[in-house]
Amino acid sequence: MNNPLYQKNIISIADLSRSDLELILQTAHSLKQTPQPELLKNKVIASCFFEASTRTRLSFETAVQRLGGSVIGFDSGGNTSLAQKGETLADSVKIIASYADAFFMRHPQEGAARLASEFTSIPVINGGDGSNQHPTQTLLDLFTIYETQATLDNLNIAFVGDLKYGRTVHSLAQALSLFNCNFYFISPEALAMPDYILEELKERNVNFSLHSSIEDVVDDLDILYMTRVQKERFDETEYQHMKSAFLLNADMLDDVRDNLKVLHPLPRIDEINIDVDETPYAYYFQQAQNGVFARQALLALLLTNHFQANA
Ligand code: CP
Repeated sequence: MNNPLYQKNIISIADLSRSDLELILQTAHSLKQTPQPELLKNKVIASCFFEASTRTRLSFETAVQRLGGSVIGFDSGGNTSLAQKGETLADSVKIIASYADAFFMRHPQEGAARLASEFTSIPVINGGDGSNQHPTQTLLDLFTIYETQATLDNLNIAFVGDLKYGRTVHSLAQALSLFNCNFYFISPEALAMPDYILEELKERNVNFSLHSSIEDVVDDLDILYMTRVQKERFDETEYQHMKSAFLLNADMLDDVRDNLKVLHPLPRIDEINIDVDETPYAYYFQQAQNGVFARQALLALLLTNHFQANA
């Protein structure tokens, strides 16, 4: 058998090799073309969101159900014993995991998914831990980039907005560093990409540059990856100051490459004017829909040996 992901935890995108990522993308493509409604028959998947989510939770739960599995869990920490009675995360994980075949979780604290994986032997999938990592978002982002560009290699990719607290850009930059792309990091100085990510990119000889305006680079891009300022991570005064720092509108796309696609993990707040939605460059809603296929692929590989890497 050649499925290196079988029964693995998915905690950080850095745990996955280029060939692992390629296997997941091939599998997502296959599942988008050919649904497999019985692949997870009799499997129970725990979906535990200790922090709010719309896309990640609903696309994950859709992915389970469209593969024939069933979901248990909760959609916020508010009503759990953990929140109301002071139960530890370790105890919660041990109990919930004893009912399920895989454990998908989002948590506001960095490192929570890694910690959870120490208390169960079933696969733990990180659906976002604080400002640290969001590996399944990266899988759907990679799938979407491949779908629109027919390659992941040698692309010009700009990351815009809150690069300090935005966990999606941390995971995506790490993953794309395996594919010889050029990166443009566009942010206010206070929200710049963390040094530890920049150091990793230097170690891998990845080309990157720092910018303070979208217009500086937009005409050279294949992918423009917008992000929101993370309201929940600022006080109100700071948030008001930061939130409108970078706004994309349709006029800024007059001279861009034909193949440019604008992506955003969503929700958008003030970063993309709705006039961009009508341009051929907007692809963020299709990106969100791809979350179902990317998460189906991951579940299929973690829980079955139906899909295999090419020998
Ligand atoms: N992209 C993303 O993580 O969205 P949700 O917070 O709605 O899950």
